[in-house]
Amino acid sequence: MIHILGFAGSLRQKSYNRSLLRACLELLPPDTALEIFDLEGIPLFNQEFEASPPPKVIEFKQKIKAADALLIVTPEYNYSVPGVLKNAMDWASRPSGNNSFQGKKAAIMSASTGMLGGARAQYHLRQSFVTLDMYAVNQPEVIVTFAAQKFDDQGRLVDEKTREAVQVLLRTLSTGPG
Ligand code: FNR
Repeated sequence: MIHILGFAGSLRQKSYNRSLLRACLELLPPDTALEIFDLEGIPLFNQEFEASPPPKVIEFKQKIKAADALLIVTPEYNYSVPGVLKNAMDWASRPSGNNSFQGKKAAIMSASTGMLGGARAQYHLRQSFVTLDMYAVNQPEVIVTFAAQKFDDQGRLVDEKTREAVQVLLRTLSTGPG
């Protein structure tokens, strides 16, 4: 059984990215489990406390370390990674010598209401993966453009092509190289 830990870079209840992450629960390959971790409640990073972080960060770090693979689903804010996600990842990467992401394989997805689907945030995240020593799944790139058209009123992912791309990415995450 492959255990994936997924988290989203938006805290909004009706977030398209949270909805996309939830859709993954229905699209997993066999022998794969997905646990969703909510980043709500993680305080702002302060390096003074990196060696004795708050309980929510301790839990986040433990779950990352225990996971076989990670799934990050994020919006793009001002052409980059939202502070919520960056902040949580900064906590989990510290202190020096205790980087929870070390050697982890991770897949990225993004959804945006615009025509570029959050692609720029994905590339900024990939850049951070280098220093975090993470292995990014390269293909397929799941970039959900015009998100308002791809989900129904209940937040269910209804676009068939997107569902297929998500399925391929999850299969690659759980069985592919890296
Ligand atoms: C945005 N949005 C946005 N979209 C995009 O494609 N590129 C961008 O640079 C930005 N910048 C941006 C900044 C801020 C502060 C906000 C609040 C929004 C729009 C964004 O894609 C849209 O609000 C999504 O719905 C956010 O994702 P969730 O919350 O639905 O998951």
